[in-house]
This record gives sequence, C-alpha cells and structure tokens, in this order.
Amino acid sequence: MREFSLLVMVALAASVSCVDNWWKSAVVYQIYPRSFMDSNGDGKGDLTGIKNKLPYLQDLGVDAIWLSPIYKSPMYDFGYDIADYKSIDPDYGTMDDFDALMAEAKKLGVRVVLDYVPNHTSNESEWFVNSAKRNGTYADYYVWANGITNASGSYPPSNWISIFHKSAWEYNSVRGQYYLHQFVIGQPDLNYRSQALQEEMKEVLRFWLRKGVSGFRVDAVNMLYEVDPADHGGTFPNEPRSYNPSATPDDYEYLLHWYTKDLNETYEVVYDWREVLDSFAQNETKIMMTEAYTDIDLMMRYYGDGKRDGSMPFNFVFLGNITGSSNANDMKLVIDSWLSKMPSGKVANWVNGNHDQSRMATRHGVNRVDAMNLLALILPGVTITYQGEELGMTDGYISWVDTKDPQACNTEDPINYWKSSRDVARTPFHWDASTNAGFSSAAKTWLPVASNYQTVNVEVQKVTNKSHYHFYKDVVALKHTAAVADGTLGTHAVTSNVLVVTRVPPSSKDHTIVAIINLASTSTTIDLSKIAGVPENMKVIASGVDCALNKDATVKRNSVSLSGNCALAFENGAVRFVAPFLLYCITLFLIWLQ
Ligand code: GLC
Repeated sequence: MREFSLLVMVALAASVSCVDNWWKSAVVYQIYPRSFMDSNGDGKGDLTGIKNKLPYLQDLGVDAIWLSPIYKSPMYDFGYDIADYKSIDPDYGTMDDFDALMAEAKKLGVRVVLDYVPNHTSNESEWFVNSAKRNGTYADYYVWANGITNASGSYPPSNWISIFHKSAWEYNSVRGQYYLHQFVIGQPDLNYRSQALQEEMKEVLRFWLRKGVSGFRVDAVNMLYEVDPADHGGTFPNEPRSYNPSATPDDYEYLLHWYTKDLNETYEVVYDWREVLDSFAQNETKIMMTEAYTDIDLMMRYYGDGKRDGSMPFNFVFLGNITGSSNANDMKLVIDSWLSKMPSGKVANWVNGNHDQSRMATRHGVNRVDAMNLLALILPGVTITYQGEELGMTDGYISWVDTKDPQACNTEDPINYWKSSRDVARTPFHWDASTNAGFSSAAKTWLPVASNYQTVNVEVQKVTNKSHYHFYKDVVALKHTAAVADGTLGTHAVTSNVLVVTRVPPSSKDHTIVAIINLASTSTTIDLSKIAGVPENMKVIASGVDCALNKDATVKRNSVSLSGNCALAFENGAVRFVAPFLLYCITLFLIWLQ
C-alpha cells in the first residue's frame, strides 16, 4: 500500500512538472485588432489580418498575443462594450476565422490570450434587455436604482460620475429606473452581488478556455463592486468631493471614489476566476493579467491572499512613475519599490504601453525607446508590449473631426479634446511605406495613419542595420535564457544617467546578462568593476540605435564607453581571448606537423 501511494505521488509530481508554466518569463504582445491588419479592405483590422501576420510575431519571438476585445459589440467603446461574450463581431470576422487564427497560432507556437471585460456589457446585450424587463434572474444582473424626486425636481440616485464624464446614471424607461454605467452610457455595470451573474461570467471564461486560449487580460477589475445599498439605508451614498483644482463637476476626478472602486469583495471574485483557469491547466498554466489603476498595495492583493491564488496585476509604474526626464536613480527606485512590494514567489510584469496611453516614444522621447524596451524585457517576469512599441511608433495626430474615442468625444470640447483622447495610440500599425502603411487597401482607414509611417515601419526597420525593431528582437531572444528567466537581479544607478541591470543565472554554466542604459545625450565611460555580478569580459548581444558599440563587440568591465542615449545588452564570455588563443594553437599544430 505504501509503495502504491509512493508511486501515485511520483506520478503526480511528474504530471505536475509536465504542466508548462510558459508565462512566468514571457513576452505578451498586445494587439488592438481594429488597428493591426485589415485583410478585407474595409479600413478596420480583423482576425484574418492578425492570422496573416502571425509569422511576423513568431519571428519577433513573442510568446503570446493578447487581443483587445473581438466580441460582438456596437463599438461605442470599440469592443469594450460587449453585446455577446460568446460571439465574434462581424467587423473582425466569424467564429470560423477565430478558430483558424487559433489553429495557425498553435502551429507557430504563439499563444492566444483574450480580453475579458467583466465590469459591464453593452446596453445592446440580451442580458441587459432582459434585465430592463425584469425577466427572471436577469433582473438583478445590473446595478439599478430609483431616482430621487424632491421639491426641486428629479435626480439620479447619487452624485456618481462616469470615468467618461458626467453622471454615471442613465434612466431606462422600460424598467422605470436608473442603471449605473461607470464608462459610456452604452456600458451598463454588471451587478456582482448576483450569484447567477457570477456563475454566468465563469461560464464565459470556460467557453474560451475550451477553445484553447492561454489566459485572459481582465478589464477594469477594480470597478466590479459598488457599496451594498443594504448597508446604507437602501440607497447609494454620494461620493465626497476631491477638491482637485483641475477637475470640473463633470470630471471623474471631481469626486473621491470611496463607494465605486477597490471594494474588498472584488478580490474573492478574482480568486474564483483563478480556480476556473486552474481547472483548465492540464497542459499549461493560464495567465490572468488584471487591469486596476489604483494604489500599489491594493494592486498587490490581486496576487492572492496567502490562502488563495489570484491574478498578475498589471504593473503600470513605467506608465505613471517614469517620464522622459527621469534619471537613473528615479528608474532604480521605481523598479525596486515595485519588486519589494510584491508577495514572494509571484511573477512580476512590466508594461510600457497600451491602447489607453500615449505611446512610449511620445511619453519618453524617441531616444529612450530602446532603453524602455530593454528594461521591460530584461527585468524578471512578463513583458507586455503594445503593438508598434517594438518600432518606436509615436502618437498620431487626430483632428476633432476624426476623433472616435468616447472619452474624447464626451468632452464636447473641439479645442481640448486631445487631452483625453486615446485615439492617438490606436492609429493603424505601420507595416511598410505604401499607402495606409500597408495596413489596409481601403480609401479611408477607421483612424488616420500617423504621418511618420514612411520612415517608422517594419519593412524599413528590417532592412536597416540598426533599428528599434532589431534591438527589440535581439533582446526578446534573451527572455528564455537562464539568466533572464531565473537569474538574480541587480539594479544599479552607476551615475545619475547610467542605469545597469544585472541578471546572474543560478548556474555558472550559463551566461550572465548585463543591461546598460545611458539616459544622457552625451557619451561617457563607466567602470563596472565594483558592481557585483558584472563579468570581467563582456560581449554586446543587443545594441540600440544610438550606440557606437555594435553587436559582437567585446569590452572590459572597467572601461565601458557609452554613446549618448545608448542602450546595450551584454553577456559574459572571454570572447576577446578566444580567437588569438585558437590561432596560437593552430600555429603550434602546424609547426608540429612540419
Ligand atoms: C479599460 C480599457 C479601456 C476601456 C475601459 C472600459 O480601461 O482598457 O479601453 O475603455 O476599460 O471597458
């Protein structure tokens, strides 16, 4: 009996070790489907376009693609308003197209991660239509409340404001009540106090997991719950004012969101979803990346509570805490403080951009593109790259007339709309220098192509000796080395302008990787001999566009010369002495032969 249990344990251990933990050191590439590749000439990207471009992504070396929403939607928020979680929007293709994309991705070894939008649906969803009619369990699927009527008039249930401006409540005449929408009017908030809704949302995860997806990015997760009116005399309480001087009464920032954000109940729901994902982890563990723009301590709670496992909360410190004028000390501090807050044993991640943010090259300046990509790729954990960041694409210009983003349109301000616009980061991908950057054959694309597409595009960067593309690809190739996947991390601000990151592998048989970035525009020479883990002799394996030191050049650690704005990755190796030594041996051998 003892032997039998031992056997079972060994078999279990073996089967556990067969599960692929692929995402623990991986590159996840975010695709905004509307803007990636248009295969049918309608000016909008689609699934077949993505499928056709998979070889590009495989060659780039990314482990997985995360697709922003592809589901049936009236597109008020470009897919984040979902009318049916289990079907594909005709703009993007059909379920057959999705299955074909999955099959091709599998063939090429690129995993597919989907966007899961649990906080709200579209008001065109059947669920919402049924809820408005109070049909069965649907009645409680959304957050409904009566308006307030007093001597001075009729008002929404509370003062809550939508992230996209103005009241977060909208009256529905079918139901005779207001519904909550924390985003656009067409995005009614789901009610997580309904158990039936919670179960239905788990079923959505299972539907796509059965199709073989490798995980999810979870949208706006910290908005899931609002306070329970039962605890507030049956009503939703007003939120207090923030007294933020730059916020007008219609702006989200005008209030403090005590009752609509970061509620404790949220975490348990995320841990429940993790269980669903784990029940599909026979061959590979599934990634769950949650989006919550909130305090770092609250973010960390998504990882788990010590008893239950959770998600990997997106790390937005590169977006919010680093700017184009940050120096090496600032960067070191930002990196170290995120890592020191993380619960032990959990996977870190680094986000340089997404479809909601101004592009990296615009935020940090084009001359820091290689530096930021290098950091995101060389630090431990998951790298999340938004499409085009590997090329250093910049924000496009979008006139008021061309503006599509509801966040900008809702300002109703043709002068200052651009401050809220996310369209700038959503312009079509630059494939080549032809019409519409090779993105579409349409006369007009859904958003205009950015004006610099003739110089910043895949085709040009592929044939240019040194380009952001080549640099990115060379560094991606390091992602699965022992040093980057499992190595010990060191971060060093050698001077206020030079940041050095070391990754020392667990075994000395493997290469150490050293990343160096010079944030100044002037050249400098540094001595790294006092920095732990830096090998005496180093060889350049990735050289940024501004570096004089090219790939394969060798340096000694006590004198590394760096051009201005240069980003480099090195590995160790007594490369410098191998060739002369070999030559010496061959000469000896030849003399001996004679
Ligand atoms: C997330 C998405 C954003 C969307 C919002 C509402 O923040 O990234 O694009 O507008 O949620 O779904």
